Amino acid sequence: MNAPTAKILVNDERPSVRARALLAEMTLAEKIGQMSQVEATYGYPPEYLGDRLRAGEVGSVINNVDINVVNELQRIAVEEGRLGIPLLVGRDVIHGFRTIMPIPLGQAATWNPEVVREGARVAALEASRCGVNWTFAPMIDISRDPRWGRVAESFGESVLLTNLLGTAMIEGFQGEDLGEPGSIAATAKHFAGYGAVESGRDYATTNIPDTKLRNVYFRPFEAAVDAGVSTVMTSFSDLNGVPATGNSYILEDVLRGEWGFDGFVISDWDSIRQLRIHGLTENDEESAYEAANAGVDMEMAGDAYSNHLQSLVEEGRIGLETIDRAVLSILTLKFSLGLFENPYTNPDAFPGYGSERALAAARAAALQSVVLLKNDHSVLPLRSSELESLAVIGPLADARYEQLGTWIFDGDEELSVTPLRAMQDMVGGEVELRYVRAMQNSRSCVNPEFDAAAGVAAECDAVLLFLGEESILSGEAHSRADIGLPGDQVELVRRVRAAGKPVIAIILAGRPLTLSDVVDEVDAILYAWHPGTMGGPAIADLLFGVESPSGKLPATFPRLVGQIPIYYSQKNGGKPPSKDNVVHIDDIDAFAPQTSLGMSAFHLDTCFTPLFPFGHGLSYTDFEYSNVRVSSEAIRVGDTVTVSADLSNRGDREAEEVVQLYTRDLVGSITRPVKELKGFRRIRLAPGETRTVRFDLHTDDLRFYGRDGKHRVEPGRFHAWIAGSCDAEMRTEFRIVE
Ligand code: NOJ
Repeated sequence: MNAPTAKILVNDERPSVRARALLAEMTLAEKIGQMSQVEATYGYPPEYLGDRLRAGEVGSVINNVDINVVNELQRIAVEEGRLGIPLLVGRDVIHGFRTIMPIPLGQAATWNPEVVREGARVAALEASRCGVNWTFAPMIDISRDPRWGRVAESFGESVLLTNLLGTAMIEGFQGEDLGEPGSIAATAKHFAGYGAVESGRDYATTNIPDTKLRNVYFRPFEAAVDAGVSTVMTSFSDLNGVPATGNSYILEDVLRGEWGFDGFVISDWDSIRQLRIHGLTENDEESAYEAANAGVDMEMAGDAYSNHLQSLVEEGRIGLETIDRAVLSILTLKFSLGLFENPYTNPDAFPGYGSERALAAARAAALQSVVLLKNDHSVLPLRSSELESLAVIGPLADARYEQLGTWIFDGDEELSVTPLRAMQDMVGGEVELRYVRAMQNSRSCVNPEFDAAAGVAAECDAVLLFLGEESILSGEAHSRADIGLPGDQVELVRRVRAAGKPVIAIILAGRPLTLSDVVDEVDAILYAWHPGTMGGPAIADLLFGVESPSGKLPATFPRLVGQIPIYYSQKNGGKPPSKDNVVHIDDIDAFAPQTSLGMSAFHLDTCFTPLFPFGHGLSYTDFEYSNVRVSSEAIRVGDTVTVSADLSNRGDREAEEVVQLYTRDLVGSITRPVKELKGFRRIRLAPGETRTVRFDLHTDDLRFYGRDGKHRVEPGRFHAWIAGSCDAEMRTEFRIVE
């Protein structure tokens, strides 16, 4: 196929200038067509889609990755449409395409923007083979509720981590230049507040005070705009009474007005028509009116815009300038992507699926994402020379599809290397690996193989128990109220434990699980999330000590669901709990009279601390922090203070540590979190090596939206910690003066 000649010629090469020239030629109907994204899931374009393309009624298609179909759709649009406008071809490329990286929450556990950038890059290259030029990622909703199924798609609970990893993912997808082959447009989603859905029920409502919106939920989106993200997607959820898709405060006032976003906003799937179901509007026409006036430029997979925008403009309820602005930014993106010059895709111009580079990226990401939660008596790493046999038990040891996680429409399970396969390749010649699946899947409650599992455990030197959740238990619309190990897994742990051998749990899951039932029943826990295509080799490398674990938790692990929300950057409150002022239910006398037990913020029936704190993650070596200090005890607004510490590797192996900087602003015009992550860095140290780790902290890094609604630093006292988790002890202090 030859690339067609652009039908509108201008001398200026700038995308926005070319877009403006094209816009001037368009009818209102053609403009509204650009604002519609149509589902194209099924095979060759059925006639209705072909006709709509010819009539200029479609700006984008979603969910077709058959390159022949995609090229044909582009051909109809550019060769048979009056103005020859190519299509944006959208697809959810969330954590890989054919080659799958760890779920985003796992990628967050790497605390490594480089790893995230490279993962997105190889995903963009693979997706480009199918003509995909637009992805709906990254999801940068701050997520503090592990019941929410979409926590898997997030970078967890921290603002800074989400800002930096979201930015890295955008850079990976979009490349240096959107016009380069292999670059695809990214989408920051879901604006805004989706991660705060009540009780973690997907699609539920959210109520977030403005200071919290601005200090927490908005921040990653502002960072994404600064990083040049092409598009923003609205959230399905209701935000303080106005669903995000009809919310002009967030879309017009904040996103465009305050942050200067000049890309375009797409609704979520049919979320414009859902404004009626929310109870914001009476019918689809009013929904189109609310969404367009709120600043939604393109409708995903609905027909409110195509059916009603024209009459709304003709009646004067929607201004032509609203339509023109939307279409201008949609066309500008198409020009920026180079689609007018190259609407067609030659798959052979891109690396094949599962290339060496893609598999290496997936393996590196998986390796750094796994978190060693506990390791009693240094039971890990395993020494193959000291073992004769290993029991490999559990439904997720050899489950090619399940290790990929949620949102993997295009993932190729044939590429997956499972832990069992990888261990067979690595140590199968030396160690007898005895595998018992034990459960049909992670939810099974009828498990005739438990006796066999316990028997094999008793006969082997140690047990590797592969537990967790199948893919389908997390992701969109897959929230859980009980986030313990599903099915009869706790019973399996007990049965295997009773065999008396060292038990190492490797947990594959889409969320932080509550592990209180099993944490004391096993000697070690490697938390592997859903690790993707190369999860197996990465886990094998860690189990056998080829590399030391270096992942750190991007989200707090509660002991019980009842503790949620529990996150590291909570407020102190007026009655903070401490080990001296909490009471346990078992300590209360029978018939005790009414008292305000402990007088602090805790639950009677569990500890006030989480099971594992944010930032936690052990290593096979011992890292020691010392000498936490500041370059200056007082700095002026606008200056920088350097916070540093010495990090020593006191063990006998080379390993990597994610060094974390936290601060606390002691007094504010609004109360401030007890700790906020302000920096992090991966450091690799040889045994015996010590290095000074420095973080330069500008006073701008300490800004927040205070009582007056202004974003600024408030002078006063600050504490700072450098440590290997938020449970930091070594503290220093500085002041900011006017
Ligand atoms: C609905 C999801 O909420 C969104 O994240 C996704 O991009 C779209 N569907 C398209 O699949």
